[in-house]
Amino acid sequence: MTKCKDDILILAIESSCDETAAAVVKNGREVLSNIISSQIDLHKLYGGVVPEIASRKHVENIDAVIKEALKESDTTFDDIDAIAVTYGPGLVGALLVGLAEAKALAYALKKPLIGVHHIEGHISANYIQNKDFKPPYVALVVSGGHSHLVYVEDYGKYEIMGHTRDDAAGEAYDKVARVIGMGYPGGPKIDKAAKLGNPNAIQFPRVFLEEDSYDFSFSGLKSAVLNYVNKEKMMGNEIVPEDVAASFQKSVVEVLVAKTIKAAKEKGVDKVAIAGGVASNTALREALTKACEENNIYLSIPSPILCTDNAAMIGSAAYYEYINGIRDGLDLNAVPGLKLGQR
Ligand code: KG4
Ligand code: ZN
Repeated sequence: MTKCKDDILILAIESSCDETAAAVVKNGREVLSNIISSQIDLHKLYGGVVPEIASRKHVENIDAVIKEALKESDTTFDDIDAIAVTYGPGLVGALLVGLAEAKALAYALKKPLIGVHHIEGHISANYIQNKDFKPPYVALVVSGGHSHLVYVEDYGKYEIMGHTRDDAAGEAYDKVARVIGMGYPGGPKIDKAAKLGNPNAIQFPRVFLEEDSYDFSFSGLKSAVLNYVNKEKMMGNEIVPEDVAASFQKSVVEVLVAKTIKAAKEKGVDKVAIAGGVASNTALREALTKACEENNIYLSIPSPILCTDNAAMIGSAAYYEYINGIRDGLDLNAVPGLKLGQR
């Protein structure tokens, strides 16, 4: 690896949920390595993420993942300019593992430490995907823990226009998948099954809330699916999981797309980005692409590997903090409920 004088190399660590990840990112946009050790197969056995198991697995894996990230990027600790780490939101025990590792490295190597907000990381995946993409724009962040519509005015400058009032979009996917017997994580399974189903087979509600609201609510939809399945079972009817998946997905996607386009219009921006695990959903990508084309809006879509949890996105977000002079002390703590834009 050749490093020029002005290049900034960041070693980033992500451990907020069930992926142990490390990456080396150059100048915020170029991914030199992106190592992800997923625990999904373990958590699958329990139908969801078990926090204690997640923390323990992070401890077991983190050193090897970092070593691999350095090896694959052909760098050594000497080449690294700063250590970045997700410090919230997320599972506290899981966050603490990455944080302790990052602090130990920063201290031992005498390198700056930069704490990154997990959602800011998800949004920044777009900077890696599209080298010229920059604020201002509206971002739809949909993951297992979050559903936010965010106006990104500048790097590090966020206005939350709306968020979920109950379940996150990914959470709704996971819960509905469980109801129709598809297992964890439900998002990719529903995505796949929906391709074989009829999205107009069942009329599930579209929850738009108040006319001027950018908030989301998915728990009513989840209950509607549950009621439908129970009712059909009670009447002795077989349900068609593919139709339930496709109809549920259509309901989610319609609301997400409508609110995102409305938000972009309100802010007068001609750029939209999507982020988070649910952003890898095929139907959402297709519907948003079409809606953006119709409204002359440029749509940035990260590749699926950059949508789900990874450390490259953390390295990208950290770069813009680094060049703005943001540094954290070794007293940086995990903040499970960290708000976007809060420090
Ligand atoms: O961003 P992420 O990896 O972790 C969090 O920060 O939460 O998102 C995980 C979520 C899970 O709920 C998963 O079911 C959902 O993203 N997901 C999907 C798809 N791939 C992952 N949801 C819908 N369609 C997909 N293809
Ligand atoms: Zn995430």
